[in-house]
Amino acid sequence: MIPLKPNEIQEWEEMHEERLVDLEEMIEQYLPKERGQQKIVIEAMNYSMMAGGKRVRPRLMQEAYYLCRGHGWIVEPFMIAIEMIHAYSLVHDDLPAMDNDTYRRGRKTTHVAYGECMGILAGDALLNYAYEVACTAFTSCVVDGIAMTDRYKMAARAITILAKKSGIHGMIGGQTADVEAEKMEEITKEELLFIHEHKTGALIEAAMMIGAVMAGADKERVAEMEQVGHVLGLAFQIQDDILDVTGTEAELGKNVGSDDKNNKKTYVSCMGLEAAKAEMERLYMEALDMLDKYGSESESIQVYIRDLIHRKK
Ligand code: IPE
Ligand code: IPE
Ligand code: MG
Ligand code: MG
Ligand code: MG
Repeated sequence: MIPLKPNEIQEWEEMHEERLVDLEEMIEQYLPKERGQQKIVIEAMNYSMMAGGKRVRPRLMQEAYYLCRGHGWIVEPFMIAIEMIHAYSLVHDDLPAMDNDTYRRGRKTTHVAYGECMGILAGDALLNYAYEVACTAFTSCVVDGIAMTDRYKMAARAITILAKKSGIHGMIGGQTADVEAEKMEEITKEELLFIHEHKTGALIEAAMMIGAVMAGADKERVAEMEQVGHVLGLAFQIQDDILDVTGTEAELGKNVGSDDKNNKKTYVSCMGLEAAKAEMERLYMEALDMLDKYGSESESIQVYIRDLIHRKK
């Protein structure tokens, strides 16, 4: 972990706040217009997108992009796309057939606000629209210094990563194992790891990798970013498990005690609160140590990750 002075940390934190404000504006611009006979499903999509999540995946993608010396805006469609895929995963995760939760991002879950049918369709729509947005990377105008063919190749690699990490070998695979494990008395450490690595780790890996790819990084660098994302994703989900037990609904903006209610297998239920906390901290430190080799260029992302360690929501 890079040692930083308090004023340096504060400067980066202010920068992160600005980047988050810009991101919120950007998300709004990319959302579909609420009109036509399908207006209701678009309203439900936008309801879940604009409910004020932390935007961790697009922010990490952007930080990885800067770390790999990306400049300009070619990463933008992917930042939006990954947040749409994440939002869809949450809308479906909250459905009665899955975690059956009623409160998310400080408001009613999408299926409670719009009905179960629109919850299902809004999730489907967000997933599909994510790729519509990602594909705009192929048609957007030429960026200074980047040849058209390179841009096409980068966007194709990024979409491939996004598709794979959110599918059966990634997030959906993890969600499947997560709900299957509810029926079991207990699961092995390997099975628990699989759930966390896939349901949450995979999209965070994708965020880090796509940031690198769109910055024009080579294969080795992309693989390094995947590794950082892997460790970070695991830490982030263990922390989510912990907050489900120790957090408050007011702070988290979502239901607490959901895991216990559903007989979920989590780091807390499998190894206890203290051991889960220790593992989470160890993993966050590991991610920071992995970034040290990039020296001062990693200051920004390191401060961002350090702030995640103390998150209350
Ligand atoms: C919640 O994700 C579900 C997990 C995969 C841990 P976030 O904690 O990133 O939720 P939002 O986007 O801030 O609402
Ligand atoms: C959700 O994990 C992971 C995905 C949506 C892919 P959780 O079920 O623990 O997330 P929360 O706690 O409902 O946000
Ligand atoms: Mg779940
Ligand atoms: Mg859930
Ligand atoms: Mg949870």
